[in-house]
Amino acid sequence: MTAVTARAHTNIALVKYWGKADTDLIIPQTSSLSLTLDQFYTDTTVAFDADFTADTVILNDHRLSRDASQKVRQFLDLVRQMSGETRFATVTSTNHVPTAAGLASSASAFAALAGAASRAAGMELSRADLSRLARRGSGSATRSIFGGFVEWQAGHDDHTSVAVPFQEQVDWPIAMVALLLDPHEKKVSSRQGMQSSVTTSPYYPAWKQVVAADLAAIKPAILAHDFTTTGEILEANAMRMHALTLSANPPYSYFNGDTLTAMQTVRDLRAAGVACYYTLDAGPNLKVFCQTPDLPAVTTQLAAQFGADRLVVAHPGPGIEFL
Ligand code: PMV
Repeated sequence: MTAVTARAHTNIALVKYWGKADTDLIIPQTSSLSLTLDQFYTDTTVAFDADFTADTVILNDHRLSRDASQKVRQFLDLVRQMSGETRFATVTSTNHVPTAAGLASSASAFAALAGAASRAAGMELSRADLSRLARRGSGSATRSIFGGFVEWQAGHDDHTSVAVPFQEQVDWPIAMVALLLDPHEKKVSSRQGMQSSVTTSPYYPAWKQVVAADLAAIKPAILAHDFTTTGEILEANAMRMHALTLSANPPYSYFNGDTLTAMQTVRDLRAAGVACYYTLDAGPNLKVFCQTPDLPAVTTQLAAQFGADRLVVAHPGPGIEFL
């Protein structure tokens, strides 16, 4: 038995992925662009053994039930199919996500699992192939194979839908402040939420145009370290993604009252001359994008309003590593 351990960091999308074209292969409707973060990562160890009579999944020291481990076991089936491995495995995974972060861990989880499971099964995959494999677990995991700014190119099939590094070494003093407003699990999963947007929001065709324009504009802005343009695009893109939830049938929202209050705080900071912009995923927690010289002003205001224990400051992080 050889055990392999991989570490992958989570990422926050600046131009969001919201909708699948192929729900089995997880081919998205649009490309997306993200920043991998240093503070939040998952370490996963996989070992296949002929003595095992079933797959076992241990997450944060707790053994998962058959139901809770279903997605991981299906992912192991895929790895076995690709590699010819026939044995069962034990997967031991630890999420290093500060509880205050409120960040989804599926991106780091499936990226780390793709790395550890494929190597434990004897495959030496390129990073592009790891990205394709991670995609089968969770769309956002596609991007977590790489560090820094990453583009997931939508493609049209399993081979062409893959992430590529846009800028792995980030030489720009930027930060992302995660603000926890509600630690509870989201009521509408991203999987359900995005499919209801694709099939019922009359604005979905417009969203595809928004994403194409935002990607074309944000890439040169990032390369030029144009903070204002980058910030304006990522904030508007997040709001337009959330407009797809409000315009779905039935309509729903990931915002809570504190989300709206925190958005206003960010706008007030901007009006007071502190450059910062927010984004948020399929939950109520805000992530505030700023440059490191503005961090004290941003964190002081957010801590005064919401409590210092609700904040985690993150910076650009690395791609997948084998430990
Ligand atoms: O990877 P999933 O299925 O959890 O979907 C991620 C969706 C968003 O986080 C809202 C956007 C994104 O691009 O990460």
